[in-house]
Amino acid sequence: MESAEIARRFLRFFEERGHQVVPSASLIAEDPTLLLVNAGMVPFKPYFLGQRKPPASRLATAQKCVRTPDIDEVGKTTRHATFFQMLGNFSFGDYFKAEVIPYAWDLLTKPESDGGFGFPEDKLWATVYLDDDEAFDIWHNKVGLPVERIQRRGLEDNYWHMGVAGPGGPCSEIYYDRGPEYGKDGGPIADENRFLEVWNLVFMQEMLREVRTKVDFDIEAELPAKNIDTGMGLERMAAILQGVDNIYEIDTTYKILDKAAELTKVRYGRDARADVSLRVIADHVRTGTMLVADGVAPSNEGRGYVLRRILRRSIRNLRLLGSGEERYMHTLTDVAIDVMGEQYPELKADAPQIHAVIDAEETSFLGTLRTGTAIFDVAVEETKRKSGTSLSGDQAFKLHDTYGFPIDLTLEMAAEQGLKVDEEGFRRLMAVQKENAKADAKAKKTGNADISIFGTLLEQAGKVDFLGYDVTEADAAIIGILVDGSTVPVAGQGTTVEIVLGRTPFYAEGGGQLADQGVIRTAGGEVEILDVQSPIKGLAVHRGRVRQGEIKVGDEARAEVDVERRRAISRSHSATHLVHRGFKNALGETAAQAGSENSPGRFRFDFTAAGAVPPSVLRDVEDEVNAVLINDLKVNAFYTSQAEARAMGALAMFGEKYGDEVRVVEIGDYSRELCGGTHVHSSGQLGLVKVLGEQSVGAGVRRVEALVGIDAFRFLARESLLVAQLSEQLKARREELPERIEGIVTRLRTAEKDLEKLRSAQVLQIAGELAAQARDLGGVSVVTHRAPDGTGADDLRKLALDVRGRFPADRPVVIMIAGAPSDRPVVVAAVNEAGRERGLKAGRLVGVAAKALGGGGGGKDDVAQGGGTRVESIADALHAVEQSIGEQFS
Ligand code: ALA
Repeated sequence: MESAEIARRFLRFFEERGHQVVPSASLIAEDPTLLLVNAGMVPFKPYFLGQRKPPASRLATAQKCVRTPDIDEVGKTTRHATFFQMLGNFSFGDYFKAEVIPYAWDLLTKPESDGGFGFPEDKLWATVYLDDDEAFDIWHNKVGLPVERIQRRGLEDNYWHMGVAGPGGPCSEIYYDRGPEYGKDGGPIADENRFLEVWNLVFMQEMLREVRTKVDFDIEAELPAKNIDTGMGLERMAAILQGVDNIYEIDTTYKILDKAAELTKVRYGRDARADVSLRVIADHVRTGTMLVADGVAPSNEGRGYVLRRILRRSIRNLRLLGSGEERYMHTLTDVAIDVMGEQYPELKADAPQIHAVIDAEETSFLGTLRTGTAIFDVAVEETKRKSGTSLSGDQAFKLHDTYGFPIDLTLEMAAEQGLKVDEEGFRRLMAVQKENAKADAKAKKTGNADISIFGTLLEQAGKVDFLGYDVTEADAAIIGILVDGSTVPVAGQGTTVEIVLGRTPFYAEGGGQLADQGVIRTAGGEVEILDVQSPIKGLAVHRGRVRQGEIKVGDEARAEVDVERRRAISRSHSATHLVHRGFKNALGETAAQAGSENSPGRFRFDFTAAGAVPPSVLRDVEDEVNAVLINDLKVNAFYTSQAEARAMGALAMFGEKYGDEVRVVEIGDYSRELCGGTHVHSSGQLGLVKVLGEQSVGAGVRRVEALVGIDAFRFLARESLLVAQLSEQLKARREELPERIEGIVTRLRTAEKDLEKLRSAQVLQIAGELAAQARDLGGVSVVTHRAPDGTGADDLRKLALDVRGRFPADRPVVIMIAGAPSDRPVVVAAVNEAGRERGLKAGRLVGVAAKALGGGGGGKDDVAQGGGTRVESIADALHAVEQSIGEQFS
């Protein structure tokens, strides 16, 4: 049975039993305590906690999940995957143990021909929490499972929680006996490889405050209702129903595995180590594809790091299989998109963007591997030079930390060089880093308490209506006031507060649009609002300072948005939509929005592109967008279904495909986008859009910045003034400026060269005269000379060599030229071969002169240069040299 069919059967079964089927939420968890969705219930946490009302009391989903704590186990066991889909049925205060257990039993044992999974009854086992007699009784008496196939287990196995504060409860798990060839008899407590867990039924009834480990946590309270959360791993079910013995060989992964084997020319099933690599690749490429599709981009922190690690491990394992510099990720990603496409059709539509991100990461990692290899080679050389036998933990850590070099790669490459690696030292440094990171993450995490305050406020406020599409001023009641994260009844002058209103004209930062600013006034006080955020969906929190008086919960307030700022931001936002469309028109549909920031008068727009965008394309896009402004297209916003919006071709930000009802903003028939932001009424209101330039902001992502409206005009006006000034100064018409400036620059360069030649010629002209004036000191021809001030050191040197060359070879010669190129004296000495044979050394003579100049210097025997600080001592210095030669030969 295919994976897609398993999901369909599961959902249909529960739909027939009154469950509303909800599509999978994004892998990017809305929950600030989690990086990624790691269980089917994550999107429903607020329903369990009673913070929000579920759309129905019975739901069923097939939820995408990513779990990475066991990433090192992937490929080595038969059942660890980083991406999996969890099929689940949920009850929020509706049915409980007595219904959920028989439901599960029915679906598992119903014949395939009848819509079930057709498991033989005698192959199924169940576990219950130690003292959960109720569940035991249902299994035995209601379902008819013999007591010997019901096992009781403790917290470790039969209590489920999220690993962080949140809901939890005892659970009952269902196991499938794969048969004696997989291990020993005795049920799940004896062997979890033979007895494979297929379904976990959680009786969600408690609220956990602090979770330290799996078995060490504090129960804060009973949940408001008794709930059901179940999870059936789709991949494990597929492995059983497809008759393969591990989850890497099921329909949605084996094709990736096969392709990897084909590309690297490795046969699966021949070599245990190669098999592990192939499985890792199959698992990781699929996970990477799904993460990228949900809008995660590789980075060095948070979920971006999870993705980066997964992609790099794939590439690394490809290299272990001998891929070398070959790039296989594109082809493998294609297969992943293909196999997952039946369940997630958006993968096919988004394929170009998914490829852009993954290809770029591959390029960057292959680059890292090259640099890392160079650093590695240096480390090896150093170690060998010191006759060491092992790379230090420090070196391995640096390779890992700075160059992203995985330790297994370091180990392997060291082994090739006959070296070991101090792995223990490496692990110690890693542990220290991990501790630091943990402390960091803990400091950043918003605890359960914080969000539950917002949950409570949301309950009190109901959904806070955003009025700001139509008005920028409104009356509203103050529902809550927070100071330092706690609710207070009143706040006085000077206090920094967060205010929740029953409804609001203020736009909360989101979708790339900056928050509104403004004022909230009550009869007794006034608050300056500087920021507005939406910590949970449906709630807006206004942040600011009480400027005067005091405000109280329950006060009637007047909320006033700074209109000028809002208008400028709206202009930027509309301009962003136009530029987005413009780039798609120019570069093709792969140019997908990856982020944006709309601020007053200015915006930046990030999008996926393989390389730099040529200036001509920037100009074309700018041109096209400004033409749209002149045509003054009407801006229209409306709500519709996700499917309808897609069918209309509305652009969504890459990775944005969740939620039922969506808002579409269209600008004439030029642009159509999913968007919750505020906009102008017609494109003419933008006035002008000026693109400033583009740059890279990470692998495969480009950023353009642009100005809008009066800011764009002022920028152009400034540039225009500058050009006018240049035109005036150069006495040239504007259009002649580039040519004129090029002419000037060329002439200047030629003149500089000519001048240089002239000066050299001048200097050398006196060389003949100087040679003729040589003095004889004990059979040595000696020339000392002070060149005119300003003669460069190079020319001094040239002159010295030129004079030296004017004597017959057998005549010993010493030339000493001094000068002052700047405010410091320089001397150059040159001695010919005959002179050197007589024991004269240029370096020593320069030393003598330099000493007199209050400095130092030296050099070789034939030519040397030195200098000092006292220009006024040049004559003395030359004299000292002559004297020294005289003494040498007297
Ligand atoms: N939430 C439960 C699990 O993830 C069903 O196993």
